[in-house]
Amino acid sequence: MKLDVLLGLQWGDEGKGKVVDVLTPEYDIIARFQGGPNAGHTLEFDGIKHVLHTIPSGIFHPNKLNIIGNGVVIDPIIFKREIDALLKMGIDVKKTLLVSRKAHLILPTHRFLDAASEALKGKAKIGSTLKGIGPAYMDKTGRNGLRVGDIERQDFEDAYNQLVEKHKALLSYYNYAYDLKEQQEKWLEGIDSIKSLTLIDSEYEINNHLAGKKRILAEGAQGSLLDIDFGSYPFVTSSNTITAGACTGLGVAPNKIGDVFGIFKAYCTRVGSGPFPTELENETGEALRKAGNEFGSTTGRPRRCGWLDLPALRYAIMLNGVTKLIMMKGDVLSILPTLQVCTHYMFMGKKISSVPFNVVNEPITPVYKELKGWNVPLDNIKSLEKFPEELNNYISFIEEELQLPIVIVSVGPDRSQTLIRKEIMSYEL
Ligand code: GDP
Ligand code: IMO
Ligand code: MG
Repeated sequence: MKLDVLLGLQWGDEGKGKVVDVLTPEYDIIARFQGGPNAGHTLEFDGIKHVLHTIPSGIFHPNKLNIIGNGVVIDPIIFKREIDALLKMGIDVKKTLLVSRKAHLILPTHRFLDAASEALKGKAKIGSTLKGIGPAYMDKTGRNGLRVGDIERQDFEDAYNQLVEKHKALLSYYNYAYDLKEQQEKWLEGIDSIKSLTLIDSEYEINNHLAGKKRILAEGAQGSLLDIDFGSYPFVTSSNTITAGACTGLGVAPNKIGDVFGIFKAYCTRVGSGPFPTELENETGEALRKAGNEFGSTTGRPRRCGWLDLPALRYAIMLNGVTKLIMMKGDVLSILPTLQVCTHYMFMGKKISSVPFNVVNEPITPVYKELKGWNVPLDNIKSLEKFPEELNNYISFIEEELQLPIVIVSVGPDRSQTLIRKEIMSYEL
């Protein structure tokens, strides 16, 4: 059996959490493969809203397994909070949540280092979520990190203290003031909480399940345009957010990848700094932010809003090997009588359809095609036949431009506000 992947094609917050929750009944296992608590994945059902940061979005379905893969970085403080909230709701995480021994740990001092680094950058700051993601992945690739499996070691405390000493030296270089004591106590409580869960060698677990014909969906975090290699560097996150990240972040070989669901908003948003060619720094952008409730699920920061960007989507589709598209938040565009879609860029005097290297320092001017808006609410639409003609035209235009089917259209945050347009599952062995 092959493993399917669902990931964001823009700058994150596309609605991954909602769709993973909707697709979970089709799968046996949901697995997160990268990122950490910088992610905020929102799910809504039965009138309740949940935001998950580290835990896969299949967790609300009984009898499904949820795996946190080796590519994820875990902050035990935030993780414990998530676990406690789920336990309170009666969700048996001790049975349905498995954690890779090879996942790395975020220390409180990683968070301090993130803040210190951002403060030093001043105006050039990345706009990090300040969850310690960059410093934790730096320690991973620098071969200094602590992994979940290390908490089972006798000398774990020594290893922790050794890493903290290194961080303290760096923090004094930054001249950064911090208070470790309280955070450290909470962190150690978090470590106890992780100890109460089932720790696994996830690469074996996942490959054994695939061999046993179990269906697995890998859940991405962030978005392709925040990828450490292919995003608008340095305004990116510190992991590979693309399909290849699912291979390294779960221990799954490339020939085991099945469908790749690429999810995008019907417009664009970005939170944090960095280039955003189609950004609307005007009343229309404000209106989209308000209608779409575009405020970060993790940090509460206002998200920057802009028109749909097809060159960026084409780039993401190429990098990920997307087989099926999912379009979110079409209902938000209902407020506008006309819509613009960026089909090309003007860059250094030339019309181009690719994403150039120097997106940070050279200005990019989008070339737009105007389309008629539908201008009627969509959030109560329960069948495809009720889609306004202009929405169908918008969808067909995107499908034609991107040469891929849009299999799901989402018209609101709730589970029920999801319309299936085409066959979702491939059922190939
Ligand atoms: P994720 O990080 O990709 O899981 O996305 P987030 O949860 O950070 O952000 C998506 C936001 O949009 C959340 O508040 C969702 O509840 C909401 N949402 C998801 N799909 C839709 C939709 O189709 N329409 C509207 N209006 N909101 C949606
Ligand atoms: P989900 O999974 C949107 C952004 C931050 C910042 C940059 C680097 O909910 O889609 P980091 O904390 O990783 O060092 O921040 O990446 N960012 C996200 N933006 N959604 C996310 O996750 C994000 N995770 C990080 O705003 O610009
Ligand atoms: Mg999010």
